[in-house]
This record gives sequence, structure tokens and C-alpha cells, in this order.
Amino acid sequence: MWRPTLSQRSGPKFRQISDAIGESAADGRLPIGTRLPPQRELAYVLGVSLNTVTRAYADATGRGFVRGEVGRGTFVREGGPLPTAAHPGELTRPSTGPIDFSMNLPTPGPAGAALGRTLAALAGTCALASFLDFESAGQVDRNAAAAAAWLGRVGLDARCDDMVLTVGAQHGIMAALMATTRPGDVLLTEELTYAPVKAMARHLGLRVVPVADEGGVLCPDALDAACDRVAGKVVYCLPTLHTPTTATMDADRRSAIAAVARKRGLILIEDDVFGFLPPERPRPLACFAPERTIYVTSVSKSLAPGLRIGYLRAPADIARALRTAVGLSSWMPPPLMAEISSRWIEDGTADELSGFQRAEAAFRQSMAREAIPSRYLRADPHAFHAWLTLPENWHADMFRMEARNRGVEVVPAAAFAVDPSLSPNAIRICLSHESARQRVRQGLDTLAELLLEAGEGGSMIV
Ligand SMILES: Cc1ncc(COP(=O)(O)O)c(C=O)c1O
Repeated sequence: MWRPTLSQRSGPKFRQISDAIGESAADGRLPIGTRLPPQRELAYVLGVSLNTVTRAYADATGRGFVRGEVGRGTFVREGGPLPTAAHPGELTRPSTGPIDFSMNLPTPGPAGAALGRTLAALAGTCALASFLDFESAGQVDRNAAAAAAWLGRVGLDARCDDMVLTVGAQHGIMAALMATTRPGDVLLTEELTYAPVKAMARHLGLRVVPVADEGGVLCPDALDAACDRVAGKVVYCLPTLHTPTTATMDADRRSAIAAVARKRGLILIEDDVFGFLPPERPRPLACFAPERTIYVTSVSKSLAPGLRIGYLRAPADIARALRTAVGLSSWMPPPLMAEISSRWIEDGTADELSGFQRAEAAFRQSMAREAIPSRYLRADPHAFHAWLTLPENWHADMFRMEARNRGVEVVPAAAFAVDPSLSPNAIRICLSHESARQRVRQGLDTLAELLLEAGEGGSMIV
């Protein structure tokens, strides 16, 4: 009987067994078509639990080393393993070329292996083909229930009827704007905002009016005053780990914003894609003004951006308009992707993956604190990104160009500014996107060098 050697390996046991299957299939010790040992027997000879071997076989199936045949067993797959990354089954990003601090995406981590397991499990169900069709009423209900459960974990009490699924948060924000505005309307935002919202507003014929904020936190008095000046109807804001400043609005502020929204009849679009990151976070704005808030989140930061699943929660009348907007723009999110997200929420994988992101983000923030002098660094210790205020003699555009020349991509504040004249001299750096911590360290060191060069008296403004 084939028996893998595990003594030289590290990582979880199931992964060690799955790695050994892949290697034996590649070097011919397990020729194509070989039946793997029955799971119970292998568990016995290796001295591991049956569950571990079951998980290993599912992992090896997901990675393309083997295929399962119902009632017959698991066989080494023809055609060999699927093309793999450096660590088979894991998502990785380039380990050469520019260090990319411009993309605010999660760290590639264990999601690839989870996907392998889930696809293998799905492949064995008779429901598989149903994901190729339009979603059924049963699937809609099941996904809404998973979505409501997920929102419950960030402190938002959501009913299934209030949930709307989208193709990610980007689509969610667009659907929210489509559902609540008409060309010519005013959209109120923080002075610095998530850049694509400016472009969305332009496409929809909206006028974006920035509301004074305090370091990224929307100011209730300024919001109230803005409503005296312009007929604002809808507010888009990022109360938790604001892009680009990482500011988080406290509970009093949230309550005050809700009061102004109520007084002025405003609809709030709350973008909470980073809401899962802080270990202790204020309740979403949607808890303070549930009757007028469209709460937007997605699994892109917490699980994986390629799943393209977003969750909106809104009061019933707005939820109806949101469903129309989703139908017009995409019919529905892909049922298979919605199913994967729902399974991960139900079986605890989503908690594991978001926990990984939380821990990795905190670690990378500690690297930033070590590398960058504190007078330039502004960052919540739980955020994916950080905000660097530049010395006076470094203009943000020049800094970005010089960083690029030295192999690091960053985004200057102007990309986020609604009114270019209010753009501070600062840049955003995203620490999570790169796979390897060592490249993050290298990028941070490069930026620290640049900051110090200017600090030493040279003028970098041309
Ligand atoms: C603040 C913010 N909102 C929304 C989105 C869109 O997220 P998704 O990938 O789910 O469309 C992003 C993604 O970069 C983001 O950073």
C-alpha cells in the first residue's frame, strides 16, 4: 500500500498528506489511475484521524491530483495536477517586479485551499448542475440567510428579507446610487473618498459635494450645514477604516450623523468593506438609522476578491429598488460564487479566513510602524492600508514617481479628493496585497529612505 512519508514536512497534517499525494503522482510513485488507499486504512497506518485523511483527499482533489468516483474510491488523475502556484492550491501574487502598495486587496492566504475543498465537496453533490442555471427561490433564501448571519457577526441585526446580493461591493455601491438618485442629484461624501465613487457619480450625472471631515471622519455639523447650501439627498461614507485615512467614526459620531440624516431626510450609503477588521468596532451606522441606511459590504476583503459577492442590507422599500438595480445591471451574482460564500459562512471557513486577514493586517501594520518614522505615518493598527503625510518638500506626485522609479507603487491623495484644491500632501499605501512579508518590508524601507532623503533638506518639488 502506498504510504507517504510525513516526517520532513510542515503545516497541517491534511496538507502534508495532500502534498505527498501530489508529489507521488508527479514522480510516478502513484501512476495515473492508481486507486488511493481506503481512507480508514491510511488513517490507521499514519496514526491520524479519519477526518484528517478525508480532508487530505478532498484537498488533493481540489488541487487536481486525484478524482473521486462515487462508490469506487479516489484515483490519481489523468493529465496530472492542474497548473499550480509555488505552493499548490494557494493564491499567490508576483514575487518579482514592482512592489504593489496601490491595490487594497487581502493577502493571498489559505482561501485557495478552502476553495479546493469546497469545489471537491460540491462536485460530489447532485445539486452541482443547478448552479449553472438562474438561481432558484431556495438558493435566494439560503444565500440571504447566510448573508444575514454574516452581518450579524459585525453587529448588524439583519432580516433575510432586507438582504440583497450583488456582484461585490463595487456593484453594491453602484446599485445603491442607481436606486436612490436621478441625474442632477447631489451626492454628499467625505472630502477624500473611495476613488471609484467619484467616477460612478460622474457616469450617473450626479454632482459630488464634499462635506468637511475631521481627518476622514464625517463631521455631523458640516453635513447639516451642507444641506443648507445644496439639496443633498444621498450620502456615501466609509465610517470604519476610511479609505484612504484609516479613520474610524466613534459611536457618538455615528449617532449624530444618523440624527442629521433623519432631520434632513438623507439616505446613507454606508460602505463597510473593512468592518470585519477591528477586533472591537463601533456598531455600523445602519444600527443607528436602519430606516434610511443602505449597508454595503462584500467578501472581497475578508475572504477573496475573486468571489465577487457583495451583501446589501436596506429597509424594505429601498431593498425593492436595489433588487431592480441589481436585476438591470447583472440579473444576479453568479449562483456558484454565492453558494461558495454561503458555505464558507455556514461552516466556519469565513471566520477562519477573515481571522487570517485580521492577524496578517495587524502584523503588516507593525512592520510599517517599525519602518516608517511615526511623524509621517497615520494608520489604524488593524487596517489593510496606511496613510503617509509627506514632508513639505516632497510633493505627492513627485514622491509617487520616485517611488515608482525605485520599484514601489503607491497612490497619491489626489486620487481620493473630491475637490482637488482640498487634496492633502499625502499618499496611501496598501500593505496587504503583496504575498510575501519580505517584499512588504522592502517596499516600506524604500519609502522610508525616500522620506528621509527629503527630510535631510533636499527640495523634491519641481
Ligand atoms: C472602500 C472600498 N469599497 C468598495 C470596494 C469594492 O469592493 P468589491 O471588490 O467587493 O467590489 C473596495 C475595493 O477595493 C474598497 O476598497
